[in-house]
Amino acid sequence: MQKNETILILDFGSQYSQLIARRIRENHIYSHIVSCRISAEELRKEAPAGIILSGGPASVYQENAPKCDPAIFRLGIPILGICYGMQLTTLTLGGEVKRGAAREYGKALLHHEGDSPLFAHIPETAQVWMSHGDKVSRIPEGFRRTAFSDNTEFAAIEDPERRIYGIQFHPEVVHTPQGKELLHNFCFSVCHCSGSWNMQSFIEASTEEIRRKTDGGKVILGLSGGVDSSVAAALLHHAIGDRLTCIFVNNGLLRKNEAARVQQIFGDAFRIPLKYVDASDLFLQKLAGVCEPEAKRKIIGNTFIEVFDKAASELTDVQFLAQGTTYPDVIESISIDGNPSAVIKSHHNVGGLPATMHLKLLEPLSHLFKDEVREVGRQLGLPEELIMRQPFPGPGLGVRVLGEVTGENLNVLRNADTIIVDEMKNAGLYYKIWQTFGVFLPVRSVGVMGDERTYDNVIAIRSVESQDGMTADWVRLPYELLDKISRRIVNEVHGVNRVVYDITSKPPSTIEWE
Ligand code: XMP
Repeated sequence: MQKNETILILDFGSQYSQLIARRIRENHIYSHIVSCRISAEELRKEAPAGIILSGGPASVYQENAPKCDPAIFRLGIPILGICYGMQLTTLTLGGEVKRGAAREYGKALLHHEGDSPLFAHIPETAQVWMSHGDKVSRIPEGFRRTAFSDNTEFAAIEDPERRIYGIQFHPEVVHTPQGKELLHNFCFSVCHCSGSWNMQSFIEASTEEIRRKTDGGKVILGLSGGVDSSVAAALLHHAIGDRLTCIFVNNGLLRKNEAARVQQIFGDAFRIPLKYVDASDLFLQKLAGVCEPEAKRKIIGNTFIEVFDKAASELTDVQFLAQGTTYPDVIESISIDGNPSAVIKSHHNVGGLPATMHLKLLEPLSHLFKDEVREVGRQLGLPEELIMRQPFPGPGLGVRVLGEVTGENLNVLRNADTIIVDEMKNAGLYYKIWQTFGVFLPVRSVGVMGDERTYDNVIAIRSVESQDGMTADWVRLPYELLDKISRRIVNEVHGVNRVVYDITSKPPSTIEWE
């Protein structure tokens, strides 16, 4: 990755900052978000090809309204201010912003005029998305208007000399259909990017960086079998070979064949040194008699740390702990409230650092979105089944066997879950849906099988669509498919005589049942 190919986004608290980064990256240009408090000096050193000032919920007149270092406007780096970013640009450079005029929210028709490079190939009248209270009422010296709408006199402005641009609408959202084109114009025509960033160039740059950072040192990584840790393992192995050791803890709460498959892929196919620790008995012992969900989660989490740390301390000369942290984990913490440096959220699936080992943290995927992580995995040769895996909770089936977790209940769930996954795959739906899985309910109900009465457990099917796991809607799976899954479970899984379908969304329910 060349440094001068980066577009930096200064975040003023917009809910859309992540989307801006996504849109830029779709143009094969690397983009990442930094706090609006970054100094002009830091920016000068970073030397990005362009800077975007994001929108934000504040009014520029509000007390404590987030501001940026005014010297940023004198760096000579092209700037695009979006919404709040445009208003701040106007105010800082001597124009005027009218306070709290009638709020404009929703679709608007934009008319552009002149020959602004931002609007090249965009129809003269185009739909855009507005969301603002204040608006620019007088533009700074050197600027000219390039677009207006019925409600907004200055919908777009520019100073081509200084290469500073402002737009009142949001180009990053889908309700601005030509927004992608506009951002493309900014990156290519104004910032002169070449668009050479892709996952191959990411792998090359990141390989170099990992080698430089580790400088011959040894690295350990907690492999969970999930997408993020798997791709991190493949990337690190690509960069430093056998200096990486993965630790894979079997907590006895994995799905059928999962432990064997992970060992097969990483140990056999990739030949990554893999320390496999089968701690199933220990986890089950500790969980015996425990029914309360939070208590179960705590026990699973703490036992994991204990087992992981013990396994790690048996390895000698390790200097680094790698984690599969991804960009969304990082972004949330780029706060405008005075904390410019990103604080990484603790990762669900990885143990604590063994204090005595003084390991340094390595997070090679911390700049990538999930689909980019998947693409890196693909390019490094990981199998599709692993790359497209659905999210799986750290505590595993421990939170899908309701009530007490016993070996017997786990087996019933494993067998039912395998049928659900198989049938979803047969129907061509498994990889299209966020999550589909079974939940074991220790509720005995009466059934008849042949001439006999049964008194067995219930399996609930959970299938949800979601973007990020924060909210979710239950999926309207075809009746025929549900019917097939239900019949197969009751016929093939000993201990189940009833199957139910969970038709609640999140909120008010959660995706997992515990
Ligand atoms: P909930 O149940 O909170 O789940 O609606 C939201 C998403 O997070 C996953 N999940 C977890 N992932 N460790 C994880 O790594 C956990 O402890 C955990 N609990 C829930 C869940 O599968 C869903 O995708």
